[in-house]
Parts: sequence; C-alpha cells; structure tokens
Amino acid sequence: MNIFKAPIDTSKKPIVWVLGGPGSGKGTQCDKIVAKYGFTHLSTGDLLRAEVKSGSERAKCLTAIMERGELVPNEIVLDLLKEAILARAEESKGFLIDGYPREKSQGIAFEENIAPVSVIIYFEASSETLTQRLLGRAASSGRADDNEETIKLRLKTFLDNNDLVLAQYPDKLRRINAERPVDEIFAEVQSILDPLVA
Ligand code: AP5
Repeated sequence: MNIFKAPIDTSKKPIVWVLGGPGSGKGTQCDKIVAKYGFTHLSTGDLLRAEVKSGSERAKCLTAIMERGELVPNEIVLDLLKEAILARAEESKGFLIDGYPREKSQGIAFEENIAPVSVIIYFEASSETLTQRLLGRAASSGRADDNEETIKLRLKTFLDNNDLVLAQYPDKLRRINAERPVDEIFAEVQSILDPLVA
C-alpha cells in the first residue's frame, strides 16, 4: 500500500543504507555513526521487533516469520520505514537505514516511494565469523532468533539474496572488510561519510 511519499532532499539529508549479514556489525557501527554524525538510525529489525511488542494487527504474522529467519513481507517493512522517516524528516540530519534492502525489490520500492539512496555501506564477513558472533551474543541478547537453528536460516536468507541486492548499485556501493576491530572499521566508515556531510 503506497500511503504517502516522503519529500526528502538527500543533498541536505543523506540516506545511507547499512547492509551486511546477520551479526556483521551493522548495529555496532550505526551506534558509532549516530554518536559522531547525529544521523537518525532506523533498523528494520528493531522497527519490526517494536511492532511485534505493540501487538498491532499487522504484527500478528511477524513473530513466526522472524523466528524462521525469513524476510517479512516488504509492504510491512516499507510502511514502517516510511512512517519512521516521515516522522523525523524535519529535524533529521540524515538517515541510516540498517538492514534494508534485503532483496532486490526492496531497494527498488524504497527509491520509488521514499528517496534515492546516497551511499551504501556493506559490511563483509564470512559465515563462520557471523555465526560465532551471533552465538556469542545469544546469551545476553534475549532475541528469539539468536539460536543455532535460526542463525543458519538467517544466513541462508542473506546469502540467497545479497549478491542480487548489491549488484544493483555498483556506483554507490562501498564494501568494508568487517573482520577487523570495531574502531578500524569505523575509521573506514568515516572516510565514506565525511565527504557526505562536508
Ligand atoms: P535484524 O535485527 O536486522 O538482524 P540481522 O540482520 O540478523 O542483524 P543483527 O542485528 O543480528 O546483527 P548486526 O549486523 O546489527 O550486528 P551487531 O552490531 O548486533 O533482523 C532480524 C529479522 O527481522 C530478520 O531475520 C528478518 O526476519 C526481519 N527483517 C529485518 N529487516 C528486514 C527487511 N528489510 N525485510 C524483511 N525482513 C526483515 O553485532 C553482532 C555481534 O557481534 C555483537 O555481539 C557485537 O558486539 C559483535 N561485533 C560487532 N562488530 C564486531 C567486530 N568488528 N568484531 C568482533 N565482534 C563484533
């Protein structure tokens, strides 16, 4: 359902898609980006978990899908994103869209309905590293999808879609080796974002 269009001037408010497999460090790096640049961080995973907690009508099917490590219907994700972006469009300095798009059609729908993406940061790490990190986090995260079985499914969903997503944006894509210490990765992130806010 196309409920509205968001008039975002991306020359003043950059839109950055933050992509990478489950556990690649998207959230970790977004926290650092927010602290330095003051961008608005919208994680589709967080938006979906908040929706589940709210007990809304559209949330009813979400829990089972997320526990299977599959993608929820794009219409729901896109509506949640649009609502969140519009609510913050006035005061925001720029948007970090964390965990979206996860399939080719999501990227197309975003740019048609919201605004063109400014730059795409992709955190690259092996499946072994991703699995180890998520299993390490499982004890404290309280997330229903941080268990061995669901992690395998999340990785499969990611690997099935990722190449097609990235291939759509050769000019805007910036790949970062995410198998390094957090601060080293963030130094590279800054080299991408500094020119956007100069
Ligand atoms: P979501 O919540 O987005 O989960 P995810 O993509 O699986 O990623 P995570 O949030 O688990 O990891 P992260 O990359 O942010 O890593 P983090 O910084 O936490 O999505 C959950 C579900 O929602 C999906 O499965 C799907 O069902 C649904 N969904 C979401 N978006 C959707 C969409 N667009 N369309 C449809 N459905 C959607 O780090 C992980 C761990 O590693 C932490 O313990 C951290 O401390 C550690 N770590 C981070 N960086 C490093 C480093 N450099 N070195 C060592 N350890 C590190």
